[in-house]
Amino acid sequence: MPALSQLVALEQEHLRRPADVYAQLRELGVHYAPEVDAFVVARHDDVVHVLRERHTFSSRNTVGRELPPADPSNPSAPLSPLLLLSDDPEHGKRRSIVNRAFTPMRIASWEPQVRRVAAEHVDRLRGLREVDLVRDLAALLPVRVISLVLGVPQQDVARFRAWSEEITRSVGNHGGDPVRREQVQDEFTGYLGRLLDRWDGQVDSSVLSQIAAAERAGELTRRECVRFVAELLVAGNITTTHHLASSVALLASRPELWDRLRAERALVRSFVEESLRLEAPIQGFYRLATADTEIGGVAVPEGSRVFVLYGSANRDDEAWDACPHLKLDRRGAASHLAFGKGAHACIGSSLARLEGRVVVEELLDRVESLELTVPVDELPYGASFINHGPVSVPARLEFRAAAPRSTPRQAPTGG
Ligand code: HEM
Repeated sequence: MPALSQLVALEQEHLRRPADVYAQLRELGVHYAPEVDAFVVARHDDVVHVLRERHTFSSRNTVGRELPPADPSNPSAPLSPLLLLSDDPEHGKRRSIVNRAFTPMRIASWEPQVRRVAAEHVDRLRGLREVDLVRDLAALLPVRVISLVLGVPQQDVARFRAWSEEITRSVGNHGGDPVRREQVQDEFTGYLGRLLDRWDGQVDSSVLSQIAAAERAGELTRRECVRFVAELLVAGNITTTHHLASSVALLASRPELWDRLRAERALVRSFVEESLRLEAPIQGFYRLATADTEIGGVAVPEGSRVFVLYGSANRDDEAWDACPHLKLDRRGAASHLAFGKGAHACIGSSLARLEGRVVVEELLDRVESLELTVPVDELPYGASFINHGPVSVPARLEFRAAAPRSTPRQAPTGG
């Protein structure tokens, strides 16, 4: 069977450990794969080349190409993303509207609140005999954190979470029940409309205030504001859940790692980077060639789709010393491609890193030991060759006698 078919067939074994398939794809070099109707790019340097050349490799119409493009003025059309699938000049303009809210410094200022939320969720696990670290932790945290950063009033967070889940499911998968989707979109649009109408004209650290200011300045329509918020929810939710899930699965299956991090807390940052490198929550994404071009010496005609595999680039032993190993002393560990690279590099990377670190630190503070209750090779993975992460991590936790008081730690230095 051709290498990529094993992944596209969504076989659990390969979804869980795609590394062997990627090694075959790198060996083959750039090639056209009918399974994804795209040229597959698996080597590290080729992936970087495509991501850097944003004029030759467009982000427009790169997914769902077989569908007619949705009319953005139609209120029942899916809330398509504003950033992910656009090119300059629109992309640059739109990104600058929210960029300031996501700088490493701005995100670092959220640490005390994010830590409180993480501590609260970890504390809720106390006393439970068996937990599912996805259902009971990793799936709950990201939307609470995004609500904070957006500036959703605390009393509305439960409702917001319900919408967020529905939108992530129906819009993120480009599917679902269209009637239900329309209903959810209407409720969500109405709710956000009320928040935007109530905006007091002050631009503060919340993302919603930046979006409201852009609407007032005529840079965004109301519908675009709603699409912006939906995009942040969809892009930041499953990805972060998958990252947290992969991290806790790694920790629960590797007691020596747990002990090392407990002894040397400063290494948690490296652990977060290495877990992102090895278990990239988004394994790959598409681009569209805007001209006849070459990738890795292979001709790629104008109009071709290109499938760039961040997950494979992160496991390319030409680029990484001791590549398959999680090395807590790796130099340049943060230069992995789990957040992409170039113009479309993840805007939420600092936030995702903060969540990843804080959750591990709060677990280390409170939990004596952590073990999986199923073999690591039997953890179920989501049925997607793009999104990667376990969907359930059943575990047994032994808590320490008393929880220490949460103390803010040093602010992150890198993005
Ligand atoms: C571990 C968690 C995350 C991972 C692995 C991740 C990964 C990625 C990747 C690989 C891209 C680039 C896509 C491309 O090359 O076209 C991206 C873009 C994006 N991400 Fe993330 N992401 C994460 C968390 C977040 C969070 C928390 C947010 C927001 C709250 C977010 C918002 C976005 C947005 C809006 C884009 C589109 C940026 C653009 O096109 O300019 N992501 N993300």
